[in-house]
Amino acid sequence: MMNRNVRTLDEFTIQQLRQFPHATGELSNLLRDIGLAAKRVNVEVNKAGLVDILGDADLVNVQGEDVKKLDVYANQQFEGVLRHGISCAGIGSEEIDDYIAFDDSVSNQSKYVVMFDPLDGSGNIDVNVSIGTIFAVYRRVSPVGGPVTRADFLQPGVRQVAAGYVVYGSSTMLVYATRRGVNGFTLDPSIGEFTLSHPDIRCPGQGRIYSVNHGNFFRYAPGVQAYIQRCQRKEKEDGGPYTQRYIGSMVSDLHRNLVKGGIFMYPGTTDKPGGKLRLMYECNPFAFIMEVAGGRATDGSRRILDIEPTGLHQRTPLFIGSSGMMDELEECLAAHPID
Ligand code: AHG
Ligand code: MN
Ligand code: MN
Repeated sequence: MMNRNVRTLDEFTIQQLRQFPHATGELSNLLRDIGLAAKRVNVEVNKAGLVDILGDADLVNVQGEDVKKLDVYANQQFEGVLRHGISCAGIGSEEIDDYIAFDDSVSNQSKYVVMFDPLDGSGNIDVNVSIGTIFAVYRRVSPVGGPVTRADFLQPGVRQVAAGYVVYGSSTMLVYATRRGVNGFTLDPSIGEFTLSHPDIRCPGQGRIYSVNHGNFFRYAPGVQAYIQRCQRKEKEDGGPYTQRYIGSMVSDLHRNLVKGGIFMYPGTTDKPGGKLRLMYECNPFAFIMEVAGGRATDGSRRILDIEPTGLHQRTPLFIGSSGMMDELEECLAAHPID
């Protein structure tokens, strides 16, 4: 007998919709489109070791980094489903220089724009380590009916309607948040559907995992160094020493820390004060998910979601995780102010 308590992503979003008689279903459609692109990317990720999809695509993305072929493929899939769907008026992508207004009669009627990092952790593709996709959904500020404008994309993260990520890992999961909660769906390969497996995810208030690139230690600000050492010096009765875990795909690192409790940091360094991670495609969506789950996210002084963006590809330092660990981090940062 099939377990009827098991719900697919579509069933779940439709059930949510039924609670709001005036809802249009546009967000449900959007999530279904994103789920479809994720399934297509998943198939390619699974055969990455087998076919000639490995390696550089002889291109450099707008941030000047090497682009792997799978990044290009993933970008095409997400752009394609959103362009051909009926619930997205335009996109911004880590892999595309400028935003794209779909600007056709159907897309112009949509109230949403989507920003995404189609493939996160691309340096890990060649070595069979989990990678991901990150997305953020905003309600446009320009009038419905015409093409979207830059202002629709340059909105602070606090205005996100939904955000989520996909992990292509030991199993493939799609996790998304709206203001009402964070829910995780695992891909059931037997039916090719994302199935609710992690309802109402809450990030524990206190964790004992810290995730940071230790190789940069001597390039971090003194407050960050002090916090890392505080994690290492924790007494046993305080859960110490904390465990350091850093995969190098923020989707995987943050998924683990979200579920188990923990803190993830990508601070600025002496050579790159703005850090590495992109505000619009990486930090804002995760900050939204983390806050809905009960955690916090800052750039060291400001709440990530309050940052007024000035460019589609801007970077920001990121500190994100369990609220108790963020409190301790902030104590360390305050004790070592940068002039
Ligand atoms: P992307 O593959 O989209 O460029 O992102 C990789 C990011 C992030 O996922 C990860 O946490 C970080 O880069 C790792 O950077 P370092 O190797 O500098 O630690
Ligand atoms: Mn990324
Ligand atoms: Mn990427």
